[in-house]
Amino acid sequence: MKRVTIRVPATTANLGPGFDAFGCALSLYTDVTFEEMEEGLQITGCDEEFTGPDNLAYVSYCAVLASLSEEVRGVKIHIDAHIPICRGLGSSAALLVAGAMGANVLRGSRLSTQGLLNITNAMEGHPDNLAPAFYGGLTASMVDNGLPVTVNFPLHPDWEFLALVPDFDLPTAKARSVLPAQLNRADAIYNISHGALVLKALELGDEKLLRNAMQDRIHQPYRKSLVKDYDAIEALVRTNGAAFCLSGAGPTLLCITRDKKLDEKLAKKLDSITQANWQMMPLHVEFQGAHIIAAE
Ligand code: HSE
Repeated sequence: MKRVTIRVPATTANLGPGFDAFGCALSLYTDVTFEEMEEGLQITGCDEEFTGPDNLAYVSYCAVLASLSEEVRGVKIHIDAHIPICRGLGSSAALLVAGAMGANVLRGSRLSTQGLLNITNAMEGHPDNLAPAFYGGLTASMVDNGLPVTVNFPLHPDWEFLALVPDFDLPTAKARSVLPAQLNRADAIYNISHGALVLKALELGDEKLLRNAMQDRIHQPYRKSLVKDYDAIEALVRTNGAAFCLSGAGPTLLCITRDKKLDEKLAKKLDSITQANWQMMPLHVEFQGAHIIAAE
């Protein structure tokens, strides 16, 4: 095979209390095409600043070739990204996943999905975006002896995921830099208990339980000052009965609801209570993980 296009879903990580552990794939995609050539690196479809060898799709492409003990030849990479960049919807993980799968497929698909997750997790440092991007659906992961272990959890079919995406970005490194290094016991207990109930509420389709359980003391309280309009939007979403959390490291805010008209209800008030420009993206769960959409 000379050329392959990989489609990777967006992901929302953490889901409130499941910091660095829970994630869910969503119906928004980045497609990346890899085509081998004699020599050189050509990256198209993205801003000039991302066309060098530090592009994440190329970095993971090279890491997979290294782990296969295969030589890196020239490659053309074309990125067709619909996942907003640096907004907490897994745009970086999508590139890592695409690069890993692209390299593996072009050289004979010798590594399993778990093998690709192991390699990319060593680069990203936490599997909560990578795991749902590879496997689809709702996942929880732990890292044991440096290796990620992931399970899929069932989801009630009626959930709607409404992402509120602002016109400003928030680099993950900045959003992690404000987190305390140590936790107290009460906060750890709070997150463990709330996290378990979030998973059950998502399975049952229990909106009231989800609204109560989807609260966090490990990251959101520290990050919200980096996200303009956070408190006003949280109050609006909760008044309308939906569960609310920061998507990944932010700044996207996520509403989870069974109300198919939540977007219309929020639209009436959003502009008047916010300073930034917020785009509403109604999404659903994507149960299919990263996969090949074209090959020749
Ligand atoms: N769990 C990660 C965080 C997701 O919240 O920082 C972003 O990589």
